[in-house]
Amino acid sequence: MIEDFEKFLKNNLPQVDSFHPDFNQALGEILDAGGKRFRPLLLLSVVQNTAPLLVKNAMHVALGVEMLHTYSLVHDDLPSMDDASFRRGHPTLHVTYDEVTAILVGDALNTHAFYMLANAPLSDEVKVKLISILARDGGISGMIIGQAIDCKFENKKLTLEQLKFLHVNKTAKLIAASLLMGAVIGGLDEIKQKVIYDFGLKLGLLFQVQDDIIDATQSSDEAGKPTGNDEHKNSFVNLLGVDGASREKSRLIKELNNDTSKLDGNLAKVLQKIISDYFKG
Ligand code: IPE
Ligand code: IPE
Ligand code: MG
Ligand code: MG
Ligand code: MG
Repeated sequence: MIEDFEKFLKNNLPQVDSFHPDFNQALGEILDAGGKRFRPLLLLSVVQNTAPLLVKNAMHVALGVEMLHTYSLVHDDLPSMDDASFRRGHPTLHVTYDEVTAILVGDALNTHAFYMLANAPLSDEVKVKLISILARDGGISGMIIGQAIDCKFENKKLTLEQLKFLHVNKTAKLIAASLLMGAVIGGLDEIKQKVIYDFGLKLGLLFQVQDDIIDATQSSDEAGKPTGNDEHKNSFVNLLGVDGASREKSRLIKELNNDTSKLDGNLAKVLQKIISDYFKG
């Protein structure tokens, strides 16, 4: 399924007709550079296990989510944010081109994400819900306020409650939204949608705990991005230490595996497999 997604992505890289010498190249570069494709996988897995005939139609939506996520990475790496020189094993856009290009490619991937959703082969009613979810959780009530707090509070220690607010918004909501969007496409009722969204919030926290451990323990070659960069951040490792963060990771994995019992059998199994594939060690 994720191989089909990669093909779909390659065939649908955003392109614009113009005489700009390298904007098209820059537009597709980080999107096409790889990455774990965690959010598309979650979305497509829910569709596969609820309405398998719609998986093909859902590719448009999965690509939209990956575009929005990639925009967040392009901007996250800018000199004024985390100032990172490579991403997904490739030089960042502000390094290869310039800062203007990186800002505008980020803007383009953000708006184009919603273009993908609006033009997906799904009912208008479903699409309006999807657009609303992505705008909410990828926007000011989610990723954006998380990033704003992450950057504003560098070198200022947050309380545990504030730290949780930061990471739920910065990372967990877009991950929860990916599962929820799959549930909306698959036609699950609102009670099941809520169960799956809450599961996603916890999964998203686990994802950020692991990302913070990666920053502290992996080489930049292994991670495909600069590591050792979170010294001034309110990361889980800075709050709990590497051992404490690893314990938190194990605790969350256990809880999530238990929580899958609230989901339908096949979906529960698929999510358990994703957890064991993505969160080893
Ligand atoms: C990195 O996201 C940013 C976070 C939200 C932690 P990913 O770890 O999903 O990055 P890619 O998509 O695999 O490159
Ligand atoms: C970024 O978090 C989360 C986003 C919304 C992009 P990080 O700053 O920890 O992500 P990495 O470590 O650079 O991938
Ligand atoms: Mg950051
Ligand atoms: Mg960063
Ligand atoms: Mg990080």
